[in-house]
Amino acid sequence: MSVQNAIKTQDAKSKTATLSIDGQALDLPVRTGTCGPDVIDVARLYRDSGRFTYDPGFTSTANCVSKITYIDGDNGILLYRGYPIDQLAERSSFIETCYLLLHGELPTAEQFAVFQRTIRNHTMLHEQMTRFYTGFRRDAHPMAVMVGVVGALSAFYHDSTDINDDQQRLIAVHRLIAKMPTIAAMAYKYSLGQPIIYPRNDLDYCANFLQMCFAIPCEPYEPNPVLARALDRIFILHADHEQNASTSTVRLAGSSGANPFACIAAGVACLWGPAHGGANEAALNMLHEIGTVDRIPEYIAKAKDKNSGFRLMGFGHRVYKNYDPRAKVMQKTCHEVLDALGMRDDPLLKVAMELERIALEDDYFVNKKLYPNIDFYSGITLRAMGFPVSMFTALFAVARTIGWIGQWKEMIEDPEQRIGRPRQLYAGPAERDFVPLEDRN
Ligand code: SDX
Repeated sequence: MSVQNAIKTQDAKSKTATLSIDGQALDLPVRTGTCGPDVIDVARLYRDSGRFTYDPGFTSTANCVSKITYIDGDNGILLYRGYPIDQLAERSSFIETCYLLLHGELPTAEQFAVFQRTIRNHTMLHEQMTRFYTGFRRDAHPMAVMVGVVGALSAFYHDSTDINDDQQRLIAVHRLIAKMPTIAAMAYKYSLGQPIIYPRNDLDYCANFLQMCFAIPCEPYEPNPVLARALDRIFILHADHEQNASTSTVRLAGSSGANPFACIAAGVACLWGPAHGGANEAALNMLHEIGTVDRIPEYIAKAKDKNSGFRLMGFGHRVYKNYDPRAKVMQKTCHEVLDALGMRDDPLLKVAMELERIALEDDYFVNKKLYPNIDFYSGITLRAMGFPVSMFTALFAVARTIGWIGQWKEMIEDPEQRIGRPRQLYAGPAERDFVPLEDRN
């Protein structure tokens, strides 16, 4: 069997790829997007050839048509609805970026005002949900709490769970964007044994999140505008990223018709993994473990030793085989926050910068195209802002909620969408008869 590189162009629109299987030629449609690789449509492959494709980890598989985000991994490009991430990080706000990701265009002043007001009107949680937290141990990981509480939203907001009602879908989208910071902040306060701080609708999204996390009832608190702006930029960087593991999880859960709150809870669960959103926590723990610049060579050697099982957390990416464009902005934001807080001499920053310098010159990392990703500098920044390491992935979940729910909405509204049901290559026993217990030796 061979796949000739016979992308025949029958006309300007339709192209085909010819697959030759045991002498039988199979023409498969080739589809072209706005930019990026064409796709070979193999939907009919099993019906026409009796064979499946095999692609563990989906490294070469597109699972949908999407108009939201585009990544060019070789050139380090990330676009949200066509706008480069560095321009949005510098010139937009997270709430404006939420509107853009959701609706496809930057809002007019009137549209933005209505959207911002709508989100602010949904920031509170049903009061009974505050009792939900008391069922957790104080030392529960915030992501364990987030998975539980986000899933429980469907037990409190029944009037926005009908996925076939476009108004209910939109209300669920607004509720999730608005309530995720409140849920995350409450998980943090509960872990501290401090009273929860209710949202303030006179503050913008990130200033409000900072006050819900760091204010206490017995004294006034005003969010540091430099930190609020930095957090807003961090949220923009983390908002969406094509069909990453957690977004694909949300899409697969949504393809069964599960309600949006349950789907986002599934995304939270998947993001928790250290190979994915848990990498920011793992990267900071790694920097702590390295401790000083003189111990870096020992860890570089470990990362190159297959038998060590150790990887440089915050390095490498499934798609970026060049510098993660978000990491550049993240590094700049990290320096700004540390400068604003007078922490320029943070020893962890010194270790991170030296580790990056050494790794970028080392053949192992250069040849495997392993560059710092967004998680490499985010941990240092969030720690400097006062967040405990255990909250880092919860913050990632707050920011990525717009990506998850925007992709979920796009999937539900996609006429091509159907329940996800991958197949397999079976390598188990051939059919055999049951052996009664007395006959087994
Ligand atoms: C995120 O998908 C997304 O878009 C995710 C994300 C998003 O916004 O949603 O960008 C967020 O998850 C960023 C990635 C965070 N993860 C980490 O920082 C964890 C450390 N990185 C790795 O585990 C790894 O790089 C992955 C998981 C990110 C990518 O893995 P791949 O593409 O499957 O690469 P691989 O595991 O096949 O590795 C290729 C080679 C291997 O060596 P060989 O077997 O070819 O000899 O590179 C090596 C790996 O051993 N390698 C590393 C390494 N990452 C890969 N070696 C040392 N340190 C590393 N970090």
